[in-house]
Amino acid sequence: MRTGVPGELHPDQVGLDRHGLTYGPMSGSAGPSDRGASMRTGVIGTGRIGSTLARILVAAGHEVVLANATGPRSLAPLLAELGPAATAARPVEAAGRADLLVLMVPYASVRGLLPPHVVQDKVLVDATNAFGGPGTPADLGGRASSELVAEWYPGARVVKSLNTMHYETLAVAGKAGGERLAHYTAGDDPKAKEIVAGIITDLGFAAVDTGPLHSGGILQQPGGPLFNRSLTEAQALAWI
Ligand SMILES: NC(=O)c1ccc[n+]([C@@H]2O[C@H](COP(=O)([O-])OP(=O)(O)OC[C@H]3O[C@@H](n4cnc5c(N)ncnc54)[C@H](OP(=O)(O)O)[C@@H]3O)[C@@H](O)[C@H]2O)c1
Repeated sequence: MRTGVPGELHPDQVGLDRHGLTYGPMSGSAGPSDRGASMRTGVIGTGRIGSTLARILVAAGHEVVLANATGPRSLAPLLAELGPAATAARPVEAAGRADLLVLMVPYASVRGLLPPHVVQDKVLVDATNAFGGPGTPADLGGRASSELVAEWYPGARVVKSLNTMHYETLAVAGKAGGERLAHYTAGDDPKAKEIVAGIITDLGFAAVDTGPLHSGGILQQPGGPLFNRSLTEAQALAWI
């Protein structure tokens, strides 16, 4: 395995949170998105990463429907901050109202979170990470965690994405100056990956296709070379 990519952050240089994700100084480009979008994105999980995604989606002109475990009323402060482009619902209703759904809950909460029929034929972005212990990837017997998600939600168009970047980086990097940082798409449905790539681009990042859900998912998940690294598109492609 390579020891590093020029310009990437070494784990010793940055902080580490309980999800094993680092955070640190960013370089990068861009002002607010001028692309806009009419897509309504459902975000299930409104903790650190889910609320961050909601903020940058709304800033980029997207609509969001948000859901958490506690219930929609608990999201009133976040909705007040986000304005009319954001609404809240219970997870099943959010999934039904969304054109595209992003899972930003603990991996252990994914199975059974929704009745599979509500995500039938829907693009389902799995941004979760499976850990066996603090900082330790879960032992999934050589499978990608998102492959299991696809089994739990048959008929959903599962794309592994938005799982590699720490939320504090996600909050700012899309509008920082300089070369865009990469977010990844792994999946077996090319059109679904294109849709997710469009959102990644709207948010000010570079979309990098890592391949099928199995091999690309393994590259992206904890223990893989793309997890928890701030890489530009060129740097990311060097790992793939
Ligand atoms: N933190 C990061 O920088 C980061 C980056 C990329 C990916 N991720 C991944 O994203 C996921 C969330 O991480 P996080 O750091 O944002 O965690 P977090 O701050 O603990 O937030 C978790 C969210 O999930 C919600 N939730 C839990 N179980 C649920 C259920 N059964 N139904 C609906 N909502 C449920 C919680 O609802 P309540 O608010 O009601 O408790 C909360 O909003 C993890 O899989 C993590 O590995 C995290």
